[in-house]
Parts: sequence; C-alpha cells; structure tokens
Amino acid sequence: MSEAKNPWWHTATIYQVYPRSFSDSNGDGIGDLPGIIHRLDYLADLGVSAIWLSPIFKSPMDDNGYDISDYREVAPEFGTLADFDHLVAEAKARGIGIILDLVVNHSSDEHPWFLDACTGRDSRYRDFYIWRDAAPGGGVPNDIPSIFGGSAWSFHESTGQYYFHQFTRRQPDLNWENPELRAQVYEMMNWWLDRGIAGFRMDVIDLIGKEPDRGITAEGPYLHRYLQEMHDKTYGGRDVLTVGEAWSATPSSALLYSGRDRNELSMVFQFEHVTQAWDPEHGKWRPRDFDLVALKKVLGKWQLALADDGWNSLFWGNHDLPRAVSKYGDISGYHTESAKMLATVLHLLKGTPYVYQGEEIGMTNVPFTTIEQYKDVETLNMHRLHLEAGLSPDDFIAGANANGRDNARTPMQWTDAEHAGFTTGIPWIEVNPNFRHINVDASLSDSSSILNHYRALIQLRKQHPVIVYGRYQSYLDQDPQFFIYTRTLGDQRLLVIANFSAKEGTLELPEELHLAGQCISYNYRPFERLGATLQLKPYEAFAVLGAKR
Ligand code: NOJ
Repeated sequence: MSEAKNPWWHTATIYQVYPRSFSDSNGDGIGDLPGIIHRLDYLADLGVSAIWLSPIFKSPMDDNGYDISDYREVAPEFGTLADFDHLVAEAKARGIGIILDLVVNHSSDEHPWFLDACTGRDSRYRDFYIWRDAAPGGGVPNDIPSIFGGSAWSFHESTGQYYFHQFTRRQPDLNWENPELRAQVYEMMNWWLDRGIAGFRMDVIDLIGKEPDRGITAEGPYLHRYLQEMHDKTYGGRDVLTVGEAWSATPSSALLYSGRDRNELSMVFQFEHVTQAWDPEHGKWRPRDFDLVALKKVLGKWQLALADDGWNSLFWGNHDLPRAVSKYGDISGYHTESAKMLATVLHLLKGTPYVYQGEEIGMTNVPFTTIEQYKDVETLNMHRLHLEAGLSPDDFIAGANANGRDNARTPMQWTDAEHAGFTTGIPWIEVNPNFRHINVDASLSDSSSILNHYRALIQLRKQHPVIVYGRYQSYLDQDPQFFIYTRTLGDQRLLVIANFSAKEGTLELPEELHLAGQCISYNYRPFERLGATLQLKPYEAFAVLGAKR
C-alpha cells in the first residue's frame, strides 16, 4: 500500500482471537469482550501490536459469526458496543490495536436487507443479493457448488427465484455490482474506523467480484476496482492494516492487492502452503503426509515474489486450520521443540507474522471420537455428504481430527483447573483434555516454555531491521529434512537453520554459510560459530546473526 514507506505493521506481530473460545467472563460458556479485556496484559506481555478479532457482530451464529445480521451491533453473547469501545481504549493504552473482521462477501439470512429482499421482487433491497430464475427446464441456474457442500443456489419459494450463496444457505452472497450496497458497506466501515480500530481482516475478499452467470467466483473482473474504491472511500489515508483473505491468490495477483501503487490492501492471506498438503481429490478431508520440500518451495516462492513490492502475511494456523504443532510438528515426542522450531522458521521470514490464539503455548488438535463432539457447520455438512458418498464414519472422524476447523476452536487453555480456566460454566465446545499440562499458567512459570520463545521472537522483529527487510535466500531446497535460509540487509546476514524431523541429522553446510556471529534464537543450545558439518538434534532450530562474507 502506498501511504507510508515503513508502516507500523512491518515490524508488528498480530494475534488472532476467536472470541467465542478465548475467555468467558460471565459463565455462559461462550467467550466474550470483557473476557478479552481481562487478558490484555497477557497479550501486551507477549508483545503483539494488534489483535485481529474474528467476528463479534450480531449473528444467528450459523457459522460462528461469519453470518452477520447487524454490522453495527455486537452479538449479545460477546457483550455490548460499550464493551467494544472499552476494549479499543484498554488495548490502545497498552499499545495494541484492534482489527475487525469484515465479512461482506455475504450476510446472514437474518440481516434486515435479506429479510426485506425476500418480501418480493420489487423490494428496495432485492438487488443487494443475487437472484436468478431456474434454469430452462427447471432446477438450479448453474452448477456452482457451495464451499460447504451442495449447490451454491437455494430456491426461495414465495418469490420463485434462486439466491446465490457460496457458503451455507444461511449466508446469502451480497451483490457487489450494486453501487448502493457498496456505499452502505463503506459507510459501515467508516463508522467502525471512527471508533478507533486499527484495521480490517477481510473475509474471503477475493470472492466479492463474482460473476456467477459466467461461473466466476474468485478474482472476478471488477474485484480490484471495488477494492480501490473501498480504499479511497474508507481507510485510504488512515494509518491502518488491511489484510484480505484470498484463497485464490497467486504471487502475481498478490501484487495487485498489495503492490505499492495499487491503493488496495496492506497484504493478503494466501493459502498455497496450506493447500499443497491437501489431497488433490478429497481436499483436506483425506490427510496426507506433510512434505517439507513442497512446503519450502511454496514459502520460498512467495518470499521472492514479494521481495521488492507487496508484502507477505506469515501464518501457520487460524480458526479454519488445524493446530500448527499437530500439522507440522510432533506432539508426542517433541512437542516443545517442534513448536519452537516452527515459530522460529515462520517469524524470521519477511512479512507480518500472525499468531493464532493458543499457538504460543503449543495447543494441539483435539482428539474427538464422535461426530456429536463437533460443532462446526462445515464439518457437520461434510460429514453428512461424505457418509452419503460412502466414506466410513471412522475415516471421516480421522480426517476431521487431522484438518477439521474445530481443532482450532476448542477453548483457550489458561490454567490446569476445570475447563482450563476458560469459563466457570459449561464450555460451548469441549476443552482439549491436554489442558492439564498445556496451559498459559504453566507456560508463564517456565522460562524455557514455547510462550517465552514466541515472546522473544516478537521482540527480535522489533529490534532487528534485517528480520523486517532483509532479502531472503534459501539453501538445500531439495533436502527433505532441513529448512535453511538467510536474510540479508546491508552488511548483516541472518542465517536460519531448522531440522523439520524427529531424527537427528548431519548437515553439510555450504561454504558461504560458515559464519560466526550471535545466536539470537535457539531451542536447544546457541550456535555461534558454524563450520562445515553440524549435528542437529530432533526439531532443532536456531538463527545466527553475523556479518555478510
Ligand atoms: C472464511 C472464514 O475464515 C471462515 O471461518 C468462514 O466460514 C468463511 N470465510 C465464510 O465466511
């Protein structure tokens, strides 16, 4: 984005809070805004610069708030607008900004716009949504599938047309071709910006320029025009962070969103490193072994593509993805070591790191055994569809345990007390049984905890411009065990070496990497002088800052 050359979010680390599962202040089993306020000192101590809040708005919660029925009201289970203003003020007092989740590809079917649109074809709000007649001969207008299973078209009896929804039928897509809809969205964004927020995370923003009649859902022809208009009418000129969720982004389209002279977004979340690990046919529901060579290739490609223009977001997890240490690490033998290794590798790349709640204490996937324990609408829909298609219940649970969204949504583990200190009531979803040993309290009292490793990495980014701006170069790309890269700025060079395996390993270091320097991060022991051969322990990772040779 063009406004400032070195914006604050270049050195920032962002923390994602999933409000429903973070901290419950009133014992109803659901996390809330006062609960977040209560935990701000913890987040300030961790060193994060901003908190991205998953949606807090009024919603029937069919998709846990990604289905908004009033864009200017806080959901009663989360609190009130006064609580929100209090959160912004208290966070600001600790140097933390609040980033809201902007969900404007679709609304809830309980939004007054949609309710009105359903009253008749002549409703003032009819065109805020996408309606089509049945195909000639009857049936859905075309075969676009919903991302959550089934068709993207649902029939509305009383007005005799189909409406378009890329997610559940309770999340009708908004029609961005309508200028009045766009104006209302911009007005709403300004209303929140005026309350002092630090930016927006934009839900599936690559989908707003859809043209369903041509089968186009992602990156439609007017997408970038809409984003430029949004920028000009809302946050352009304000010192905020904007990050668009864009599953379809490629390195070249990422430059369209986040390029210096584009006036669109600060950065996008791209997911190539996530989807490269999915099964080509069954997607995330059939887990595959994780392949380091493929992962390095994707991460490196994005580092190089956005080296001079645009900006990367860096993340292992979020509320839709499995827990990082379960996915890429080893939770049975090397939980602490592998969680620290993953953090080291990610946080020393170029871009803005995002920490998903609980990642900093090494929270893991949840071992649910029955479908009744799952709450996520996507998992429940897919369960029905996959079983109808012949998958066994056990195979489905195995897939959901590996990649389902509820892995990230079990309550934050604060203490070893009942319900992990998340609530005094009954949590809306079960707590991961490992809370007795994986929790914040235990992490705070252990100087070598994963939490303290994250805290140190977040500080390093603030201290060393080479971490923020250094040029990326990778080594031994075909090696299936080690991830090695350097970051170079001026005459400084940071070397990062990680063993992505539970096996010890011998690393023959290329000669140009034989350097001496200060070991600024490690998970076993500091290396200061690197010779030709290194013996690395399981999941060992370290970073040495030295002079360029
Ligand atoms: C992406 C969000 O991250 C996810 O949680 C949600 O279900 C869909 N968008 C629909 O809003």
